[in-house]
Amino acid sequence: MITADPRAVAAALLDGALAVLPTETVYGLAARADNPAAVARIYAVKGRPALHPVIVHVADPHLDPDAPGSWVREVPDYARQLAEACWPGPLTLVLPRSARAGDDVTGGQDTVAIRVPGHPVALAVIQAMDEADPAGAPHGVAAPSANRFGHVSPTSLAHALADLGELLAESDMAIDGGACSVGVESTIVDCTGPQPRVLRPGGIGVADIERTTGLEALDATASGIRVPGALPSHYAPAARIALAPDAEALAAYVDAVVEGGTEVERIGVIASSAIPTPEGATRLLAPDSVDAYARGLYDSLRRADATGVVFVVAVPPDPDAEGVSEAIADRLRRASAPR
Ligand code: TXA
Ligand code: MG
Repeated sequence: MITADPRAVAAALLDGALAVLPTETVYGLAARADNPAAVARIYAVKGRPALHPVIVHVADPHLDPDAPGSWVREVPDYARQLAEACWPGPLTLVLPRSARAGDDVTGGQDTVAIRVPGHPVALAVIQAMDEADPAGAPHGVAAPSANRFGHVSPTSLAHALADLGELLAESDMAIDGGACSVGVESTIVDCTGPQPRVLRPGGIGVADIERTTGLEALDATASGIRVPGALPSHYAPAARIALAPDAEALAAYVDAVVEGGTEVERIGVIASSAIPTPEGATRLLAPDSVDAYARGLYDSLRRADATGVVFVVAVPPDPDAEGVSEAIADRLRRASAPR
């Protein structure tokens, strides 16, 4: 059922129902994180393999491992600095779990991924859970992106319902929060070692993490931590995707695909507004900033499939650019990986 009332969504979640919720990154498919049966339904509805860990969303950015009901048992100083600087916002911290974070949300690992979402509707829902059931506070909402497993993440309620609408039950809820303002998922930072390790690039750039903590941020290689979102061909539409480094390579690529027998209007182009559309091709996205690129990316990939585009050529943002361009480049690389 679609509602505009965060308290109705909170009540349904407390009762063990699922809810499609807006966050500033992407829409999530939410369940009460301490209800294993509800979390199990997330996996079933998404078609996601069991034992993939999910992010626990909370409302209070002050993580106190000693507080009753805490989801974490330890918070290193640099993680606390990141939480203070970035929450609410597109950052997920992987921390040693408390007993409250069960195997069904952690994938059986000794860590839990936790984040305070920056969208007012998501925050209102979690706060309403805490108000309706103060004894259970701080409530945690397990929420992976609200798409079928392996598909493009949803940045609007319409995207989420197109993927999952038929699979939800009468008692499940959905609430609209408009188009997501960030448009790519949160940055995931493993905070179990002496310095931060970026497991997935996202809304917060690596340079910001280093500036905030004064520590060098490591990358995901050799972390030994399982991050299913890091599978090579993830975030993929049905159309094939190829990457071109610049305008010239884009034009050459489109020519080659036409020569290979594809009608030119069935070739889609994703590139910054400074890069012209090769004649006859279908322009899917022409952002004038990296933020606009991130906001529009997933919608443009979904539109490729909806408009009969069979081949997409994308020019990623400048590889030296910081911030959210790291996430855009990462998602385009994965979407273009062989499958
Ligand atoms: O922006 C986001 O992070 C969105 C919104 C809804 O919050 N959520 C999202 O969830 O992208 P999902 O499930 O699609 O991706 C979560 C990622 C997965 O790659 C998962 O493996 C990783 O987080 N993850 C969760 N718990 C983890 C843990 N304990 N250790 C390492 N990675 C973990
Ligand atoms: Mg996902």
